[in-house]
Amino acid sequence: MTESMAAPQARGKKAHDAIFGASSAAQADIAQHGKALVVNGTAGVIQDEEGSLVCLPAVEKAYRSLPMTELTAYAPVAGLPVYLKEVQECCFGDFRPEGYTAAVATTGGTGAIHHIIHNYTVPGDEVLTSNWYWSAYNMLCVDAGRTLRTFRMLNEANVFDHEDFQRQLSAMAEKQDQLAVILNTPAHNPTGYSLTGEDWDRVLDFLKALVEKGKKITVLVDVSYIDYAGEGARQFFTKFSGLPPEILIVVAFSMSKSFTMYGLRIGAMIAVSSSEAVAQEFADVNSYTNRATWSNNCRGGMACLVRIWEDPALRKEWKEEQQQYYRLIQERAAIFVKEAKEAGLPMLPYQAGFFLSIPSPDSAKVCELLHKDHVYLVPLKAGIRVAVCSIPKAKMAGLAAKIKAAMEEAGQL
Ligand SMILES: Cc1ncc(COP(=O)(O)O)c(C=O)c1O
Repeated sequence: MTESMAAPQARGKKAHDAIFGASSAAQADIAQHGKALVVNGTAGVIQDEEGSLVCLPAVEKAYRSLPMTELTAYAPVAGLPVYLKEVQECCFGDFRPEGYTAAVATTGGTGAIHHIIHNYTVPGDEVLTSNWYWSAYNMLCVDAGRTLRTFRMLNEANVFDHEDFQRQLSAMAEKQDQLAVILNTPAHNPTGYSLTGEDWDRVLDFLKALVEKGKKITVLVDVSYIDYAGEGARQFFTKFSGLPPEILIVVAFSMSKSFTMYGLRIGAMIAVSSSEAVAQEFADVNSYTNRATWSNNCRGGMACLVRIWEDPALRKEWKEEQQQYYRLIQERAAIFVKEAKEAGLPMLPYQAGFFLSIPSPDSAKVCELLHKDHVYLVPLKAGIRVAVCSIPKAKMAGLAAKIKAAMEEAGQL
């Protein structure tokens, strides 16, 4: 009897990742001991102070106001034209870069990452991202027959490690003429770190130098958490004006967090190029891959963004509600950061966003030990991820000390 019917490249694939495992353990504890006792810091979604999933009321209002057929009809393969226009406004805000832009609707930010790997790298290629990264990046690469390569994100001074970024990209350039880089900023998952304007200048200068050597570079800028990154978070977009045509910037925009519409699966990939032909090619090849992957995208999600964007009063409500949660997440993180400092618990520099991280050589061991305190966090390769988006303030108090104690018990501090 054969035990596998999967093709060789598909054998052994399992989507049960660390996040899934930690979340199931938390659910089992909640079922046994009740919600009040358990600190579930695994969920990458906004939960309110009572631990309930948040849907921004303006989003609910907009979505429920849509005619049924606006939810059920097919959408054009590239996305609703009006959405493709408004999503760029929504993404760039007051900091739209100069040049040619083109948008294609995708299934969330994930779809944008999928398409970039598919259409801007060659099977067997490496794709570069930082050593702290959202684990799906690796799965997306592996599933497409590519390899994820990493650079050290932060140096000893806890600032962007340009030396290692350049080293790793140069090593890739020895083997590949077409390079793809994924940068998740601002409010990086899982650390809450954001590149500064100066970091961007240095990154872009280095890319320009590689272009001089005949390389073509696509930079996927994953801005999934941009609306929870505070004021000034969009300013870096203008740095994408006037780049050489061999540098293609693709912004992965997601409605999951900005609109709390995680399950509706809608986002966009937005290209910025100084070449009209490159922007047109981007629209063409990625629309084709839409058709060949999931045909077209969630029309209701797109219509919801358009509905909110084109109604100034509703747009104001949405922004205010969203920023209220941005402030709540900041308050939660501030409790942790203060207590971590007091307890002497090392952590990565958190600025904003849904997560913060603690470096650990064996994060699984620490997370396991924390289960006896009814604390559930996500063990990653480089450390422990704490979802500040979903832990109420009352449960945040005392958490840093518990992690410190578990790390000491594990012999890691
Ligand atoms: C860093 C990062 N990028 C992209 C995504 C993709 O989200 P979605 O596909 O729901 O838009 C997520 C979701 O957790 C994320 O954390």
